[in-house]
Amino acid sequence: MRILITGSNGLLGQKIVKICLKRGTEFLATSNGKNRNYDCPDSRYLELDITNQNQIQEIFTSYNPTHIIHTAALTNVDYCELNPEECQEVNVNATRKLWEEAQKINAHFELLSTDFIFDGLKGNYKETDEPSAVSIYGQSKVDAENILIQSQNDNWSIARTIIVYGTANNLSRTNIVLWSIEALTKGDSMKIIDDQFRMPTWAEDLAWGCLEICNRNKKGIFHLCGPELMAVNEIVFRIAKHLGKSTQNVEIISSSTLNQPAKRPPRTGFDLSKSKSELDYKPKSIEETIDILLTEK
Ligand SMILES: NC(=O)c1ccc[n+]([C@@H]2O[C@H](COP(=O)([O-])OP(=O)(O)OC[C@H]3O[C@@H](n4cnc5c(N)ncnc54)[C@H](OP(=O)(O)O)[C@@H]3O)[C@@H](O)[C@H]2O)c1
Repeated sequence: MRILITGSNGLLGQKIVKICLKRGTEFLATSNGKNRNYDCPDSRYLELDITNQNQIQEIFTSYNPTHIIHTAALTNVDYCELNPEECQEVNVNATRKLWEEAQKINAHFELLSTDFIFDGLKGNYKETDEPSAVSIYGQSKVDAENILIQSQNDNWSIARTIIVYGTANNLSRTNIVLWSIEALTKGDSMKIIDDQFRMPTWAEDLAWGCLEICNRNKKGIFHLCGPELMAVNEIVFRIAKHLGKSTQNVEIISSSTLNQPAKRPPRTGFDLSKSKSELDYKPKSIEETIDILLTEK
C-alpha cells in the first residue's frame, strides 16, 4: 500500500501521518504550502494545491499511489457560506480533478465528508439516508460525494464524520475540546449552545477508520464518528466534570443568538452499525480521549 494524503497539515491529515509512521506504512503527505506538521519528515512531504490539476498529475505520476485519502477541504462552514465560489472550487471541482487522476493510475480514492450533508431533523443517520444539506459547505460535500457515487468506476469510498477534535501541530483553527480544556482550566467565560446535537469524534479514531477502509479494501460509504450523541454544551460539561473544573463561567445560549452566516443541522449523529461490523470500528469516549490528549499537550 502506498497512500497519498491530501490536507496533511490539517487535524485529520496529521493523525493519518502519525499512524502511518508508527506502522511503517508507505505514504506521501501533501498539503497547501509548506509542511507545518513537524512530526512528518520533509522527505515524506510535497506541496500540493488540490485546485491545480498540473500539480496533481505530476505528483500522482511520480508517486504512483495505490490509495488516496482526500482530507483537504475548506472546512470553515461560515467562510464557505460567504465564499461559495471558492468553496465550489476547493471542495467540489478539486475532488473531481483528484478522482479523474486517481482513475488513470487505478488508485482507490477515499473522500472525507460530513454530517452537514443532512438537514438534522431526523438524527441517527445511516449510510443509506438521503442527503439534504442546509448550507453551502454541506451542499459542496453532497456534490463531491455525488461525483463518486454517480461514477461508473466503484474504486472509491466515502468516510463521513462529525465534529473532529484532538491535538496537532500548527493547526489553522482550534477545536471544541482543546478550546474547552483551555478555557475551563483558565476559568475564562464561555458561551455555549444547548440546541444542537452531535457525536464528537476523536481525530485518531477517525484516522484509524480511514486507514482501515484502505487496509480492508472496502468500498462505498462509511459513517465514522464518536460513540455518543450529546448537546454541544454537554461536551463542555463532560470535560469540566472529568477535569474537576468549575462551569460557573459557562453561559448556555441558543444558537439563534449567534447570527452565524451558515445554517447548521440541529440534530445529526450517525448509526455506526456498519463501521462496527465491517471495520471493527471502536471509537473512544470523550473521557478516555481527554486523558490521552492531556499527555500530548
Ligand atoms: N473538523 C471537523 O469537525 C469535520 C467534521 C466533518 C467533516 N470533516 C471533514 O474531514 C476532513 C478533514 O478535516 P480536518 O478537521 O482535518 O480539517 P482541517 O484541519 O481544516 O484541514 C484541512 C486541510 O486542508 C487544507 N487545504 C485547504 N485548501 C487546500 C488546497 N487548495 N490544497 C491543499 N490543501 C488544502 C488546509 O490547509 P491550511 O491548513 O493551509 O488551511 C488544511 O490543512 C475535511 O474534508 C472536512 O470537511 C471535518
